[in-house]
Amino acid sequence: MSKEDLLDPDKIQANLKTKRIGKKVLVYKSTSSTNDIATEYAKNKNNDGLVIFAEEQNAGRGRAGTKWHSHYADSILCSIILNNCKINSELLSLTVAVAVADALGKVGKCEAKIKWPNDIIVNGKKVAGILLETRQTSNHTVCVIGIGINCHQKKSSFPAELQSTATSIDIEGGATCDRISLTKRLLSSLDEWLEVAQNNENKVTDQWRRRSTLSGHRVTLLYNGKRFTGNCVGIDPKKGLILQLDQGSVRMFDAAHTTIAK
Ligand code: BTN
Repeated sequence: MSKEDLLDPDKIQANLKTKRIGKKVLVYKSTSSTNDIATEYAKNKNNDGLVIFAEEQNAGRGRAGTKWHSHYADSILCSIILNNCKINSELLSLTVAVAVADALGKVGKCEAKIKWPNDIIVNGKKVAGILLETRQTSNHTVCVIGIGINCHQKKSSFPAELQSTATSIDIEGGATCDRISLTKRLLSSLDEWLEVAQNNENKVTDQWRRRSTLSGHRVTLLYNGKRFTGNCVGIDPKKGLILQLDQGSVRMFDAAHTTIAK
């Protein structure tokens, strides 16, 4: 990794034309989890839109209690603070996925798909993940959007059990990606799509459906620890994944309590 590739607040903010996201940016060399740091900063109401980056996390976490692995300066690891977010959590989850996929397509030159609710998939493998956490502080509700994008990893960088399912932009793009450009595009994309979600929910869900890997496919999932199998017949932006179960009934599964088994 060259020094030029290290994340730098001035480089990230140069010519950044966002309205809300990334007006303030902090870059940590190393931290526990950017979501934890963001949660601390979120206690101050003035930190809406603040983005915390880290080159390394020693306690990075993913959805459903998993660990999020990364090595120094090989990823984009960040958390964004949204105060009193007016977008419901299911739609927010889809919106962030669309924003990340869009940014990867524009700068990472990858055709990014979305595996519900918000895994970002390139050529069938996971390249990025999103962890949304909502907290009530003493005087406002805060949503922290955690995003991890694999950039410079080689296959051997991933733990053995992830090597067949995880990938990076460099692997898929066949070249070393520019993390600063990708970071700038990510912040702009989030800024744009979060605004769209407030005014035109359908535009987000249309875009999400276009990129979805599950629609029309057989899905097995775990909901509150119980297994369900059926055909994915759609997504409801407020309620979650819609499955036509093998037993015959149609049922919805919200993202907070569901993990896709296959
Ligand atoms: C997942 O797919 O399971 C979600 C992964 C989210 C990882 C990011 S990295 C930055 C932020 N800090 C964390 O501890 N997790 C998120």
